Amino acid sequence: MDFSYTEEQQLIQKTARDFAQEHLAPGVIERDDKAEFPKEQLKLLGELGFMGMMVPEKWGGAGFDTVSYCIAMEEICAVDASMGVIMSVNNSLVCQLLWKYANDYQREKYLKKLASGTWLGAFSLSEPQSGSDASNMLTHAIRDGDHYVINGTKNWVSSGINSDIVVVFLMTEKGVGHKGISAMIVEKGIPGLSHGKKEDKLGIRGSDTCELYFDDCKVPVENLIGEEGKGFKVALGTLDGGRIGIASQALGIARAALDRSVEYANERKQFGKTIGSFGAIKDKIATMATNVDASRLLIYRAAKLKDEEKPYSKEAAMAKVFASQTAMDNATQCVQIFGGYGYMQEYGVERLMRDAKITQIYEGTSEIQQLVIARTILGN
Ligand code: CAA
Repeated sequence: MDFSYTEEQQLIQKTARDFAQEHLAPGVIERDDKAEFPKEQLKLLGELGFMGMMVPEKWGGAGFDTVSYCIAMEEICAVDASMGVIMSVNNSLVCQLLWKYANDYQREKYLKKLASGTWLGAFSLSEPQSGSDASNMLTHAIRDGDHYVINGTKNWVSSGINSDIVVVFLMTEKGVGHKGISAMIVEKGIPGLSHGKKEDKLGIRGSDTCELYFDDCKVPVENLIGEEGKGFKVALGTLDGGRIGIASQALGIARAALDRSVEYANERKQFGKTIGSFGAIKDKIATMATNVDASRLLIYRAAKLKDEEKPYSKEAAMAKVFASQTAMDNATQCVQIFGGYGYMQEYGVERLMRDAKITQIYEGTSEIQQLVIARTILGN
């Protein structure tokens, strides 16, 4: 088993790290404070090929493997987890979905623009009454000639305001449970589609989240992805990959918390010694570092299985549940190590704690990841 990066992966890591330092670190606290979407930075990230990393070049992407994507995600999120979720949704949810399930007409029209970073995509599954119980949705589409007419409300849509298209899951047949769910591409700005206010969030404040309202919204039938009634499997299959992306986001936050803690522990003096020389701090650093490495290994295992086209739902769920817990633990310990300074906005570590929390919630809560893991093991 080879644990080293290829030359290409080393270059991706360096490129992502340099980009994060040069373009994301300046202003990250201010963007978080003002809940400001990183529009300019996103354009540059797209030019680097980081918005469609796993899509073949033929379809506008960079053609990298999933481990490379995880490496880039970790570096971006270690500096700016808000940018990380924008990148993750576009890469693992929208581009991967279109690459795997869309037809060539849809790939030509949408995927090329999304993977090259010209356009931004969003993924819309949840509704006010259906979060973890994702198939219990009410938004529906009725076929009318060469169009579908959509009505309903979706919520928690990441990039819902700034995206150019949104992949929406809705019912095309009622009364048959998940077998009535379909997936459709909806272009933003079309009549009948509007969005709610930008949600005021605890963390990842630089990314936008909103509700979407469909009011007799007409979408051409050619925007149906795959077949009617097959959308729920498309959603869950895509979310498996998304969970690797969010685990990588959590890893980036966890590693940043470790790096900042080590730096501070070696410089802050109390009782005439650096605080890193005290056992209480040593214990924290050791646990933080071990869990960062364990998260990374779980993530790369899931990524490798995905690239080998082997089953990886359980492994992706394990990576996400562990890495997100690590992000939360490490960020909390980092604030603790910084003491009063950690509690202040200007030191930038309280943001890690706020950003970490969502990784235990979106793309399937930790409780849902445990369910996926246990069901796979128990076979029920
Ligand atoms: N891939 C493909 N198909 C799958 C699958 C997978 N990983 N898991 C299950 N399926 C199939 C099943 O085989 C089944 O098909 P059949 O009936 O033909 O056998 C069908 O899907 C339904 O499966 P279940 O009966 O297991 O479905 P369920 O209703 O019990 O739900 C669940 C399972 C795991 C709880 C699922 O609903 C789930 O993952 N919920 C969490 C939802 C979620 O992650 N939401 C995230 C929103 S998006 C987001 O957060 C993005 C963002 O903003 C950043």
